[in-house]
Amino acid sequence: MSKVKDLGLKAEGEDELSWARENMPALASIRKRFEKEKPFRGMRIAVALHLEKKTGILLETLKAGGAAVAAASCNPLTTDDRVAAALAGQMEVYAWAGENSKEYEWCLGKVLDSKPNIVIDDGCDLILMLHDKRKELLKDVRGACEETTTGVRRLRAMETDGKLKVPVIAVNDAYSKHLFDNRFGTGQSAVDAIMRATNVVLAGKRVVVVGFGWCGRGIAERMRGMGARVIVVEAAGAPLNGTESGYHRALEALYSGYDVMTMDEAARVGDIFVTATGNKHVIARRHFELMKDGAMVANAGHFDLEVDVQGLRQMAKKSRKLGPNLEEYLLGNGRRVRLLSEGRLVNLARPSGQGHPAEIMDASFSLQALSAERIAKQGGSMLPAVHDVPPQLDEMVARLVLESRGVRLDRLTKEQEHYVNSWREGT
Ligand SMILES: NC(=O)c1ccc[n+]([C@@H]2O[C@H](COP(=O)([O-])OP(=O)(O)OC[C@H]3O[C@@H](n4cnc5c(N)ncnc54)[C@H](O)[C@@H]3O)[C@@H](O)[C@H]2O)c1
Repeated sequence: MSKVKDLGLKAEGEDELSWARENMPALASIRKRFEKEKPFRGMRIAVALHLEKKTGILLETLKAGGAAVAAASCNPLTTDDRVAAALAGQMEVYAWAGENSKEYEWCLGKVLDSKPNIVIDDGCDLILMLHDKRKELLKDVRGACEETTTGVRRLRAMETDGKLKVPVIAVNDAYSKHLFDNRFGTGQSAVDAIMRATNVVLAGKRVVVVGFGWCGRGIAERMRGMGARVIVVEAAGAPLNGTESGYHRALEALYSGYDVMTMDEAARVGDIFVTATGNKHVIARRHFELMKDGAMVANAGHFDLEVDVQGLRQMAKKSRKLGPNLEEYLLGNGRRVRLLSEGRLVNLARPSGQGHPAEIMDASFSLQALSAERIAKQGGSMLPAVHDVPPQLDEMVARLVLESRGVRLDRLTKEQEHYVNSWREGT
Protein backbone atom coordinates (compact mmCIF):
# COMPACT_ATOMS: atom_id res chain seq x y z
CA MET A 1 0.00 0.00 0.00
CA SER A 2 2.82 2.42 0.90
CA LYS A 3 5.65 3.54 -1.41
CA VAL A 4 8.99 4.40 0.20
CA LYS A 5 12.63 4.07 -0.88
CA ASP A 6 13.65 0.94 1.01
CA LEU A 7 11.69 -1.00 3.62
CA GLY A 8 14.98 -2.53 4.72
CA LEU A 9 15.76 0.77 6.51
CA LYS A 10 12.95 0.12 9.00
CA ALA A 11 15.14 -0.78 12.00
CA GLU A 12 17.25 2.38 11.60
CA GLY A 13 14.05 4.42 11.28
CA GLU A 14 12.73 2.93 14.50
CA ASP A 15 15.89 4.05 16.33
CA GLU A 16 15.37 7.57 14.96
CA LEU A 17 11.74 7.58 16.07
CA SER A 18 12.61 6.40 19.54
CA TRP A 19 15.07 9.29 20.01
CA ALA A 20 12.43 11.81 18.92
CA ARG A 21 9.77 10.19 21.12
CA GLU A 22 11.99 10.59 24.17
CA ASN A 23 12.42 14.32 23.45
CA MET A 24 8.79 15.22 22.83
CA PRO A 25 7.19 14.97 26.29
CA ALA A 26 4.34 17.47 25.73
CA LEU A 27 3.16 15.52 22.67
CA ALA A 28 3.47 12.31 24.72
CA SER A 29 1.05 13.69 27.30
CA ILE A 30 -1.45 14.55 24.54
CA ARG A 31 -1.01 11.07 23.07
CA LYS A 32 -1.87 9.50 26.44
CA ARG A 33 -5.16 11.38 26.50
CA PHE A 34 -5.86 10.58 22.82
CA GLU A 35 -5.34 6.86 23.52
CA LYS A 36 -8.18 6.99 26.05
CA GLU A 37 -10.52 9.45 24.32
CA LYS A 38 -9.98 8.48 20.65
CA PRO A 39 -11.02 11.90 19.24
CA PHE A 40 -10.35 10.74 15.65
CA ARG A 41 -12.20 7.43 15.87
CA GLY A 42 -13.34 6.39 12.38
CA MET A 43 -11.64 9.39 10.70
CA ARG A 44 -9.04 9.57 7.97
CA ILE A 45 -6.28 12.16 8.12
CA ALA A 46 -4.19 13.11 5.05
CA VAL A 47 -0.84 14.67 5.88
CA ALA A 48 1.85 16.51 3.90
CA LEU A 49 4.68 17.40 6.29
CA HIS A 50 8.47 17.03 6.12
CA LEU A 51 8.59 13.29 6.65
CA GLU A 52 11.22 12.83 9.30
CA LYS A 53 11.42 11.60 12.87
CA LYS A 54 9.56 14.37 14.71
CA THR A 55 6.73 14.21 12.19
CA GLY A 56 6.66 10.46 12.77
CA ILE A 57 5.79 11.06 16.43
CA LEU A 58 2.93 13.39 15.44
CA LEU A 59 1.61 10.75 13.03
CA GLU A 60 1.78 8.09 15.75
CA THR A 61 -0.14 10.44 18.06
CA LEU A 62 -2.92 10.93 15.49
CA LYS A 63 -3.09 7.18 14.99
CA ALA A 64 -3.24 6.62 18.75
CA GLY A 65 -6.26 8.96 18.68
CA GLY A 66 -8.08 6.55 16.37
CA ALA A 67 -7.26 8.03 12.92
CA ALA A 68 -6.29 6.17 9.77
CA VAL A 69 -3.31 8.21 8.54
CA ALA A 70 -1.95 8.63 5.00
CA ALA A 71 1.24 10.72 4.76
CA ALA A 72 3.43 12.29 2.09
CA SER A 73 6.24 14.82 2.34
CA CYS A 74 5.63 18.51 1.68
CA ASN A 75 9.03 18.81 -0.01
CA PRO A 76 10.83 16.50 -2.45
CA LEU A 77 14.16 16.60 -0.60
CA THR A 78 13.21 16.40 3.07
CA THR A 79 12.08 12.81 3.62
CA ASP A 80 14.19 10.70 5.94
CA ASP A 81 13.98 7.35 4.11
CA ARG A 82 14.71 5.43 7.31
CA VAL A 83 11.77 7.03 9.12
CA ALA A 84 9.49 6.59 6.07
CA ALA A 85 10.34 2.86 6.11
CA ALA A 86 9.58 2.56 9.83
CA LEU A 87 6.23 4.35 9.48
CA ALA A 88 5.17 2.43 6.37
CA GLY A 89 4.28 -0.60 8.48
CA GLN A 90 1.88 1.42 10.64
CA MET A 91 0.12 3.64 8.10
CA GLU A 92 0.07 4.61 4.41
CA VAL A 93 3.27 6.46 3.49
CA TYR A 94 4.16 7.82 0.05
CA ALA A 95 7.51 9.60 0.28
CA TRP A 96 11.19 9.28 -0.50
CA ALA A 97 14.08 11.72 -0.62
CA GLY A 98 14.78 13.09 -4.10
CA GLU A 99 11.29 12.88 -5.62
CA ASN A 100 11.01 14.67 -8.96
CA SER A 101 8.08 17.06 -9.37
CA LYS A 102 5.87 14.43 -11.03
CA GLU A 103 6.56 11.95 -8.23
CA TYR A 104 5.95 14.65 -5.61
CA GLU A 105 2.49 15.30 -7.10
CA TRP A 106 1.78 11.59 -7.33
CA CYS A 107 2.53 11.18 -3.61
CA LEU A 108 0.19 14.05 -2.69
CA GLY A 109 -2.48 12.52 -4.94
CA LYS A 110 -2.09 9.16 -3.17
CA VAL A 111 -2.72 10.64 0.28
CA LEU A 112 -5.84 12.35 -1.07
CA ASP A 113 -6.99 8.99 -2.45
CA SER A 114 -7.53 8.02 1.20
CA LYS A 115 -10.61 10.34 1.09
CA PRO A 116 -9.60 12.39 4.13
CA ASN A 117 -11.82 13.98 6.76
CA ILE A 118 -8.94 16.14 8.02
CA VAL A 119 -5.95 17.51 6.10
CA ILE A 120 -2.66 18.58 7.71
CA ASP A 121 -0.44 20.58 5.38
CA ASP A 122 2.84 22.48 5.34
CA GLY A 123 3.01 25.04 2.53
CA CYS A 124 -0.56 24.54 1.19
CA ASP A 125 0.29 22.27 -1.79
CA LEU A 126 -2.01 19.50 -0.53
CA ILE A 127 -4.91 21.83 0.30
CA LEU A 128 -4.54 23.46 -3.11
CA MET A 129 -4.56 20.11 -4.89
CA LEU A 130 -7.74 19.23 -2.98
CA HIS A 131 -9.42 22.44 -4.18
CA ASP A 132 -8.08 22.41 -7.74
CA LYS A 133 -7.93 18.81 -8.84
CA ARG A 134 -9.89 16.75 -6.31
CA LYS A 135 -12.97 18.90 -5.63
CA GLU A 136 -15.16 15.78 -5.30
CA LEU A 137 -13.40 15.01 -1.99
CA LEU A 138 -14.20 18.39 -0.38
CA LYS A 139 -17.61 17.27 0.90
CA ASP A 140 -16.01 14.79 3.35
CA VAL A 141 -13.35 17.20 4.63
CA ARG A 142 -14.18 18.75 8.01
CA GLY A 143 -11.20 21.04 7.93
CA ALA A 144 -7.46 21.42 7.77
CA CYS A 145 -4.42 22.69 9.66
CA GLU A 146 -1.49 24.61 8.12
CA GLU A 147 2.01 24.51 9.55
CA THR A 148 4.00 27.34 7.94
CA THR A 149 4.02 31.07 7.13
CA THR A 150 4.01 30.57 3.36
CA GLY A 151 1.05 28.17 3.54
CA VAL A 152 -0.96 30.57 5.72
CA ARG A 153 -0.22 33.42 3.30
CA ARG A 154 -1.49 31.34 0.35
CA LEU A 155 -4.59 30.30 2.30
CA ARG A 156 -5.43 33.88 3.24
CA ALA A 157 -5.14 34.81 -0.45
CA MET A 158 -7.47 31.89 -1.33
CA GLU A 159 -9.94 33.10 1.29
CA THR A 160 -9.83 36.67 -0.09
CA ASP A 161 -10.55 35.30 -3.59
CA GLY A 162 -13.52 33.29 -2.25
CA LYS A 163 -11.77 30.02 -3.20
CA LEU A 164 -11.31 28.45 0.23
CA LYS A 165 -14.00 25.82 0.84
CA VAL A 166 -12.97 24.32 4.21
CA PRO A 167 -12.04 25.80 7.60
CA VAL A 168 -8.29 25.87 8.15
CA ILE A 169 -6.49 26.47 11.45
CA ALA A 170 -3.35 28.59 10.97
CA VAL A 171 -1.13 26.64 13.35
CA ASN A 172 1.86 28.72 12.20
CA ASP A 173 0.31 31.88 13.58
CA ALA A 174 0.03 30.59 17.15
CA TYR A 175 2.50 32.45 19.31
CA SER A 176 3.99 29.23 20.65
CA LYS A 177 4.62 28.08 17.05
CA HIS A 178 6.26 30.99 15.28
CA LEU A 179 8.12 32.25 18.33
CA PHE A 180 9.85 28.92 19.10
CA ASP A 181 9.80 26.97 15.88
CA ASN A 182 10.39 29.65 13.25
CA ARG A 183 12.85 31.55 15.42
CA PHE A 184 14.76 29.11 17.64
CA GLY A 185 14.19 26.03 15.48
CA THR A 186 15.13 27.55 12.13
CA GLY A 187 17.90 29.58 13.78
CA GLN A 188 19.70 26.54 15.14
CA SER A 189 18.94 24.05 12.37
CA ALA A 190 19.85 26.41 9.49
CA VAL A 191 23.22 27.21 11.06
CA ASP A 192 23.79 23.52 11.76
CA ALA A 193 22.94 22.50 8.17
CA ILE A 194 25.15 25.20 6.64
CA MET A 195 28.07 23.99 8.76
CA ARG A 196 27.45 20.34 7.84
CA ALA A 197 27.14 21.12 4.11
CA THR A 198 30.19 23.38 3.86
CA ASN A 199 32.39 22.66 6.90
CA VAL A 200 33.45 26.33 6.94
CA VAL A 201 34.27 28.54 9.91
CA LEU A 202 31.46 31.01 10.49
CA ALA A 203 33.43 33.29 12.81
CA GLY A 204 34.50 36.44 11.00
CA LYS A 205 32.38 35.71 7.90
CA ARG A 206 29.92 38.30 6.67
CA VAL A 207 26.59 36.49 6.72
CA VAL A 208 23.71 38.18 4.92
CA VAL A 209 20.29 37.26 6.30
CA VAL A 210 17.58 38.21 3.81
CA GLY A 211 14.25 38.76 5.59
CA PHE A 212 14.17 39.66 9.29
CA GLY A 213 10.95 37.86 10.18
CA TRP A 214 10.61 35.07 12.73
CA CYS A 215 13.02 32.79 10.89
CA GLY A 216 15.45 35.54 9.90
CA ARG A 217 15.70 36.82 13.48
CA GLY A 218 16.61 33.34 14.67
CA ILE A 219 19.20 32.78 11.95
CA ALA A 220 20.79 36.20 12.55
CA GLU A 221 20.96 35.59 16.30
CA ARG A 222 22.53 32.14 16.00
CA MET A 223 24.96 33.27 13.27
CA ARG A 224 26.09 36.09 15.54
CA GLY A 225 26.50 33.51 18.29
CA MET A 226 28.94 31.65 16.04
CA GLY A 227 30.99 34.80 15.57
CA ALA A 228 29.67 35.83 12.15
CA ARG A 229 29.32 39.49 11.21
CA VAL A 230 25.64 39.68 10.30
CA ILE A 231 24.05 41.92 7.69
CA VAL A 232 20.26 42.09 7.38
CA VAL A 233 18.31 42.85 4.20
CA GLU A 234 14.64 43.84 4.56
CA ALA A 235 12.00 45.12 2.16
CA ALA A 236 8.89 47.25 2.42
CA GLY A 237 5.56 45.98 1.17
CA ALA A 238 5.37 42.28 2.10
CA PRO A 239 2.09 41.23 3.78
CA LEU A 240 2.79 40.81 7.51
CA ASN A 241 0.43 40.18 10.42
CA GLY A 242 -0.97 43.07 12.44
CA THR A 243 0.59 46.50 12.19
CA GLU A 244 4.17 45.33 11.54
CA SER A 245 5.96 46.32 8.34
CA GLY A 246 9.36 45.82 6.75
CA TYR A 247 10.35 49.22 8.20
CA HIS A 248 9.73 47.99 11.76
CA ARG A 249 11.73 44.87 11.10
CA ALA A 250 14.64 46.77 9.55
CA LEU A 251 14.62 49.10 12.56
CA GLU A 252 14.58 46.14 14.95
CA ALA A 253 17.55 44.64 13.07
CA LEU A 254 19.44 47.92 13.29
CA TYR A 255 18.78 48.26 17.03
CA SER A 256 19.78 44.63 17.51
CA GLY A 257 23.20 45.68 16.29
CA TYR A 258 23.19 44.30 12.74
CA ASP A 259 24.16 46.19 9.60
CA VAL A 260 21.10 46.80 7.45
CA MET A 261 21.40 47.40 3.70
CA THR A 262 19.80 46.63 0.35
CA MET A 263 20.36 43.34 -1.45
CA ASP A 264 22.38 45.12 -4.16
CA GLU A 265 24.74 46.47 -1.48
CA ALA A 266 24.90 43.22 0.51
CA ALA A 267 25.55 41.11 -2.62
CA ARG A 268 28.97 42.76 -3.02
CA VAL A 269 30.19 42.11 0.52
CA GLY A 270 28.59 38.91 1.79
CA ASP A 271 30.43 35.60 2.21
CA ILE A 272 27.31 33.55 3.03
CA PHE A 273 23.71 34.43 2.12
CA VAL A 274 20.64 32.92 3.79
CA THR A 275 17.14 33.80 2.57
CA ALA A 276 14.05 33.54 4.81
CA THR A 277 11.42 35.78 3.24
CA GLY A 278 8.64 33.54 1.86
CA ASN A 279 9.07 35.61 -1.30
CA LYS A 280 10.31 34.97 -4.84
CA HIS A 281 13.72 35.73 -6.40
CA VAL A 282 15.00 37.83 -3.52
CA ILE A 283 18.43 36.76 -4.74
CA ALA A 284 18.20 37.29 -8.50
CA ARG A 285 20.56 37.07 -11.48
CA ARG A 286 21.92 40.59 -11.01
CA HIS A 287 22.90 39.76 -7.44
CA PHE A 288 24.93 36.69 -8.46
CA GLU A 289 26.91 38.92 -10.82
CA LEU A 290 27.85 41.22 -7.93
CA MET A 291 28.93 38.44 -5.54
CA LYS A 292 32.50 37.75 -4.45
CA ASP A 293 34.30 34.67 -5.71
CA GLY A 294 33.26 31.68 -3.59
CA ALA A 295 30.11 33.25 -2.11
CA MET A 296 27.73 30.67 -0.63
CA VAL A 297 23.96 30.88 -1.00
CA ALA A 298 21.37 29.02 1.06
CA ASN A 299 17.62 29.28 1.47
CA ALA A 300 15.59 28.67 4.63
CA GLY A 301 12.23 29.89 3.24
CA HIS A 302 9.53 27.41 2.28
CA PHE A 303 9.87 27.20 -1.50
CA ASP A 304 12.96 26.93 -3.72
CA LEU A 305 11.93 30.15 -5.47
CA GLU A 306 13.58 32.56 -3.03
CA VAL A 307 16.88 32.18 -4.81
CA ASP A 308 16.63 32.30 -8.62
CA VAL A 309 18.25 28.89 -9.01
CA GLN A 310 17.14 28.53 -12.63
CA GLY A 311 18.69 31.90 -13.47
CA LEU A 312 21.93 30.86 -11.78
CA ARG A 313 22.01 27.62 -13.77
CA GLN A 314 21.41 29.50 -17.03
CA MET A 315 24.14 32.04 -16.26
CA ALA A 316 26.74 29.44 -15.31
CA LYS A 317 29.44 28.35 -17.77
CA LYS A 318 30.15 25.27 -15.74
CA SER A 319 29.00 23.55 -12.57
CA ARG A 320 30.29 20.78 -10.36
CA LYS A 321 29.19 19.01 -7.21
CA LEU A 322 31.32 19.70 -4.14
CA GLY A 323 29.31 17.56 -1.73
CA PRO A 324 25.85 16.05 -1.24
CA ASN A 325 24.31 19.45 -0.45
CA LEU A 326 26.75 21.75 -2.25
CA GLU A 327 27.12 22.72 -5.91
CA GLU A 328 29.50 25.23 -7.45
CA TYR A 329 28.61 27.42 -10.44
CA LEU A 330 31.29 29.18 -12.48
CA LEU A 331 29.98 32.46 -13.87
CA GLY A 332 31.05 34.33 -17.02
CA ASN A 333 32.93 36.88 -14.86
CA GLY A 334 35.20 34.08 -13.61
CA ARG A 335 33.73 34.05 -10.08
CA ARG A 336 32.23 31.01 -8.42
CA VAL A 337 28.92 30.90 -6.55
CA ARG A 338 28.22 27.93 -4.26
CA LEU A 339 24.62 26.88 -3.84
CA LEU A 340 23.46 24.78 -0.90
CA SER A 341 20.75 22.11 -1.17
CA GLU A 342 19.57 23.21 -4.64
CA GLY A 343 18.05 26.31 -3.06
CA ARG A 344 15.56 24.21 -1.07
CA LEU A 345 15.00 24.52 2.70
CA VAL A 346 18.61 24.20 3.81
CA ASN A 347 17.81 23.08 7.34
CA LEU A 348 15.59 20.25 6.17
CA ALA A 349 17.15 19.07 2.88
CA ARG A 350 18.90 15.81 3.62
CA PRO A 351 21.54 14.70 4.41
CA SER A 352 23.01 17.88 5.93
CA GLY A 353 19.61 19.25 6.98
CA GLN A 354 18.42 17.50 10.12
CA GLY A 355 15.35 19.69 10.72
CA HIS A 356 14.46 21.39 13.96
CA PRO A 357 15.44 19.74 17.24
CA ALA A 358 12.78 17.41 18.67
CA GLU A 359 12.22 19.65 21.72
CA ILE A 360 11.20 22.47 19.37
CA MET A 361 8.89 20.29 17.31
CA ASP A 362 7.33 19.06 20.57
CA ALA A 363 5.58 22.45 20.86
CA SER A 364 4.73 22.80 17.13
CA PHE A 365 3.32 19.32 16.80
CA SER A 366 1.44 19.55 20.11
CA LEU A 367 -0.33 22.52 18.53
CA GLN A 368 -0.96 20.47 15.37
CA ALA A 369 -2.41 17.58 17.37
CA LEU A 370 -4.70 19.85 19.42
CA SER A 371 -5.76 21.83 16.33
CA ALA A 372 -6.59 18.61 14.46
CA GLU A 373 -8.66 17.53 17.48
CA ARG A 374 -10.52 20.85 17.32
CA ILE A 375 -11.25 20.27 13.63
CA ALA A 376 -12.45 16.73 14.41
CA LYS A 377 -14.83 18.00 17.09
CA GLN A 378 -15.90 21.40 15.77
CA GLY A 379 -14.87 21.56 12.09
CA GLY A 380 -18.47 20.97 11.02
CA SER A 381 -19.60 24.25 12.58
CA MET A 382 -16.60 26.39 11.51
CA LEU A 383 -16.78 28.71 8.50
CA PRO A 384 -14.62 27.99 5.45
CA ALA A 385 -11.96 30.53 6.39
CA VAL A 386 -8.52 30.78 8.01
CA HIS A 387 -8.94 30.48 11.80
CA ASP A 388 -6.53 31.33 14.59
CA VAL A 389 -5.47 28.74 17.14
CA PRO A 390 -7.57 29.62 20.21
CA PRO A 391 -5.41 31.46 22.80
CA GLN A 392 -6.17 28.82 25.48
CA LEU A 393 -4.67 26.08 23.26
CA ASP A 394 -1.67 28.26 22.47
CA GLU A 395 -1.05 28.91 26.18
CA MET A 396 -1.66 25.27 27.07
CA VAL A 397 1.14 24.15 24.76
CA ALA A 398 3.63 26.63 26.26
CA ARG A 399 2.58 25.38 29.72
CA LEU A 400 2.89 21.69 28.81
CA VAL A 401 6.39 22.24 27.42
CA LEU A 402 7.49 24.16 30.52
CA GLU A 403 5.99 21.53 32.83
CA SER A 404 7.79 18.77 30.95
CA ARG A 405 11.05 20.60 31.70
CA GLY A 406 10.22 21.12 35.35
CA VAL A 407 10.02 24.92 34.96
CA ARG A 408 7.50 26.70 37.16
CA LEU A 409 6.08 30.24 37.10
CA ASP A 410 4.99 32.56 39.87
CA ARG A 411 1.26 33.31 40.16
CA LEU A 412 -0.19 36.75 40.70
CA THR A 413 -1.36 37.36 44.27
CA LYS A 414 -5.02 38.38 44.77
CA GLU A 415 -3.80 41.93 45.43
CA GLN A 416 -1.79 42.01 42.18
CA GLU A 417 -4.67 40.56 40.18
CA HIS A 418 -6.91 43.29 41.51
CA TYR A 419 -4.28 46.00 40.84
CA VAL A 420 -3.58 45.09 37.21
CA ASN A 421 -7.29 44.99 36.43
CA SER A 422 -8.29 48.28 38.08
CA TRP A 423 -7.83 52.00 37.37
CA ARG A 424 -8.16 53.29 40.95
CA GLU A 425 -4.60 53.06 42.27
CA GLY A 426 -1.97 55.51 40.93
CA THR A 427 0.56 57.94 42.40
N1 LIG B 1 13.21 26.54 7.32
C1 LIG B 1 12.25 26.26 8.18
O1 LIG B 1 12.31 25.28 8.91
C2 LIG B 1 11.09 27.17 8.28
C3 LIG B 1 10.34 27.24 9.47
C4 LIG B 1 9.26 28.11 9.53
C5 LIG B 1 8.94 28.90 8.43
N2 LIG B 1 9.67 28.77 7.27
C6 LIG B 1 9.41 29.57 6.06
O2 LIG B 1 10.33 30.66 6.09
C7 LIG B 1 9.77 31.79 5.40
C8 LIG B 1 9.77 33.00 6.36
O3 LIG B 1 8.92 32.73 7.47
P1 LIG B 1 8.76 33.77 8.66
O4 LIG B 1 7.83 33.15 9.64
O5 LIG B 1 10.08 34.28 9.08
O6 LIG B 1 7.98 34.94 7.85
P2 LIG B 1 7.81 36.48 8.22
O7 LIG B 1 6.64 36.95 7.41
O8 LIG B 1 7.80 36.68 9.70
O9 LIG B 1 9.16 37.15 7.67
C9 LIG B 1 9.50 37.33 6.34
C10 LIG B 1 10.29 38.64 6.24
O10 LIG B 1 10.83 38.75 4.92
C11 LIG B 1 10.71 40.11 4.51
N3 LIG B 1 10.76 40.16 3.04
C12 LIG B 1 9.79 39.85 2.15
N4 LIG B 1 10.23 40.06 0.89
C13 LIG B 1 11.51 40.48 1.00
C14 LIG B 1 12.51 40.86 0.05
N5 LIG B 1 12.27 40.86 -1.26
N6 LIG B 1 13.73 41.25 0.52
C15 LIG B 1 13.99 41.29 1.85
N7 LIG B 1 13.07 40.95 2.79
C16 LIG B 1 11.85 40.55 2.37
C17 LIG B 1 9.38 40.58 5.10
O11 LIG B 1 9.31 41.98 5.21
C18 LIG B 1 9.42 39.88 6.47
O12 LIG B 1 10.00 40.69 7.47
C19 LIG B 1 8.39 31.34 4.96
O13 LIG B 1 8.47 30.82 3.66
C20 LIG B 1 8.06 30.21 5.93
O14 LIG B 1 7.09 29.35 5.43
C21 LIG B 1 10.76 27.96 7.19
